[in-house]
Amino acid sequence: MTTRTTTLIKHTLAVAIAAALPLIAGAAEAPMPWMNRALSAGQRATLVLKEMTQEEKLQWVYGYFGSDFAPKKTIKIAAALPSSAGYIPGVARLGLPELFETDAGLGVASQASANPRERTSLPSGLATAATWNPKLAYQGGAMIGAEARASGFNVMLAGGVNLMRDPRNGRNFEYAGEDPLLSGIMVGQAVKGIQSNHLISTVKHYALNNQETGRNELDARIGDVAARTSDLLAMQLVIEQGDPGSVMCAYNRVNGPYACENAWLLNEVLKQDWGFKGYVMSDWGAVHSTVASANNGLDQQSGSEFDKSPYFAGALEEAVKTGSVAQSRFDNMVYRILYAMFDKGVVDHPVKPDGAIDFAAHGLISRTDAEESMVLLKNDGQVLPLRKDVKTIAVIGGYADQGVLSGGGSSQVYPIGGSAVKGLLPASWPGPVVYHPSAPVKEIAALAPGAKVVFDSGADPARAAQLAASADAVIVFGTHWIGEANDALDLALPDKQDELIAAVAAANPRTVVVLETSGPVLMPWLGKTAAVLQAWYPGTRGGEAIARVLFGDVNPSGHLPATFPASLSQLPRPVLDGDPAKPQMQFKVDYHEGAAVGYKWFDLKKHKPLFPFGHGLSYTRFEYSALAGGYKDGQLQVRFKVSNTGKVAGKDVAQLYVSPLGARWEAPKRLAGWDKVDLQPGETREVTLTVEPRMLAVLHGPSKTWRIAKGKYTLLLAQDAGGTGESSITVDLPARKLDLHGKAVPSTGKR
Ligand code: BGC
Repeated sequence: MTTRTTTLIKHTLAVAIAAALPLIAGAAEAPMPWMNRALSAGQRATLVLKEMTQEEKLQWVYGYFGSDFAPKKTIKIAAALPSSAGYIPGVARLGLPELFETDAGLGVASQASANPRERTSLPSGLATAATWNPKLAYQGGAMIGAEARASGFNVMLAGGVNLMRDPRNGRNFEYAGEDPLLSGIMVGQAVKGIQSNHLISTVKHYALNNQETGRNELDARIGDVAARTSDLLAMQLVIEQGDPGSVMCAYNRVNGPYACENAWLLNEVLKQDWGFKGYVMSDWGAVHSTVASANNGLDQQSGSEFDKSPYFAGALEEAVKTGSVAQSRFDNMVYRILYAMFDKGVVDHPVKPDGAIDFAAHGLISRTDAEESMVLLKNDGQVLPLRKDVKTIAVIGGYADQGVLSGGGSSQVYPIGGSAVKGLLPASWPGPVVYHPSAPVKEIAALAPGAKVVFDSGADPARAAQLAASADAVIVFGTHWIGEANDALDLALPDKQDELIAAVAAANPRTVVVLETSGPVLMPWLGKTAAVLQAWYPGTRGGEAIARVLFGDVNPSGHLPATFPASLSQLPRPVLDGDPAKPQMQFKVDYHEGAAVGYKWFDLKKHKPLFPFGHGLSYTRFEYSALAGGYKDGQLQVRFKVSNTGKVAGKDVAQLYVSPLGARWEAPKRLAGWDKVDLQPGETREVTLTVEPRMLAVLHGPSKTWRIAKGKYTLLLAQDAGGTGESSITVDLPARKLDLHGKAVPSTGKR
């Protein structure tokens, strides 16, 4: 019998015995002072830790996969919820509940397609980022957190915020784009929403897990300051905004060591510099050692069946006995987990899977998110919104008669009734390909009841073109499925869809393209089409959201959270590093662009993208005026007016970019703030933005302080990073020194 199997049996027995013991919380003969809610989470964790045996402590740092198809089939922990991501036994005698873990950021996922949980799915994370509406991110988080709780989970593996350094990354749809400020705020709010249900959420994957090719093998190389000004800043903002109970360390290496045994990432940056009080859990299969991992900052081994060895079981026990891991460090690992459990209400609000979910209300939250996320990329001759009194509407491709696409892998949320389209490949993980049963064709027909709506699968471009030629309105869908563990090979729509769209557009110049993709794609047919709507993976009620935007029931207000490149050659790495055909190969990814990610890189290189970061059209027009900026209470405040000068109500996303005239940044400008403003036609509103001070500063590595250089800065107010609708002024900023959280540091006169 292997050590791993012995340990698993030992733990299984412990779980069974613990479960058999009655809960004695509150019993007179066994007072549990840590159950006193008047004490702080830290005090409670300290008190209960003192009562624990070494054996009980060990339980907390060792997680099981929740499903029975672990790579090396061992023992299915019966107490785990079926098809779930993970399970950690509790200590019933001390009133401490088990941890039931579920993926992920779009809703309650299931690991297997056989008998999955059927739950509400938000649109993709990138879609939510495209709303630029932090309130919606919070609401969506609160909704999926409520479903997690109703499903019996108290840990949600959400909070994905890896920056889009490559539009080919197969998990871009789980994340929030390329800008640290936008991603950090949007994901931070989502995490806050999830945790409002007394759950622990993670932020992940810490850090630099920015491509899937070779994710277990690659070594991400980047300088300290560049990392802290980009990917790490996004994570830090999520932690500051959302206060997640846990951070999930990533599969890859960072500057040498694996992320889950990386002293710089875990001990220095996360715990020391940012003061993170919760616990670090590993990604599933991301642990490679016992002593180095424990000493360098990992607190919990997750889904241990995925690792080569049960590092945090018997081996850790032994390491603590021999002193290679100090008892104090081991205690701190457990303390951090308990701290998060008390702090987030996991102990005080035990989960009971009651399945009480208001799917109608939750579907509406998802739909609202989808509606605000859709980005109108192009709209020549105001072909959109479509008139509801047209006679014939041709809808082509994308299984639009059946549903809307979602992305694959561990984050997959299964719809009620199962996928609308069955039998697509890949059938196994990260598949199956799942379509949410919200069919655009049906919703289009419902909004234009007098029209004849004809669907064509698009399998034969000539036939589709024939249909398009005679229709009053033509909507052709372009889809691109991708899933975890894979990257896209290029940015082309697969399965000859470019040919299809080109043929349809050639037959009818008023063709409208709707894209259901993870992220950016190339559009060789762009010049021939009249309109393009980026609908992302739009979630449970995506079909309705698409139809409502197409007909103008909803005025589109999404803006791109990532640059759409014109070609792969514009990217920092035109060819992706690694080789999917050589899965064991160790290699480096040199993030030579440093913090110049996305539009910053494009600005620096003067590349003209297909569509710039921040881009998004509306059915109305907005204008800016009275831009002014100045220092108030030690912070840069910017004021301006936004007017809706068009004929319909709409929401503008006014974006503030800052550019130093004297100082040198990683790139010419940075997004420093934004506001989403809802305006009636003819209405004008004054907006005040307080600029996040770190966006004006350069990090000084040795002193770990952000420094704003005295001098002139240009403030650009625009509708995208390309400068559309731009209004600008120059302001003088005094020199300032800030700590790592952006708080002013009193000047000592010394450097
Ligand atoms: C993913 C994580 C996920 C975990 C558990 C891993 O493959 O990278 O994001 O939370 O599995 O399902």
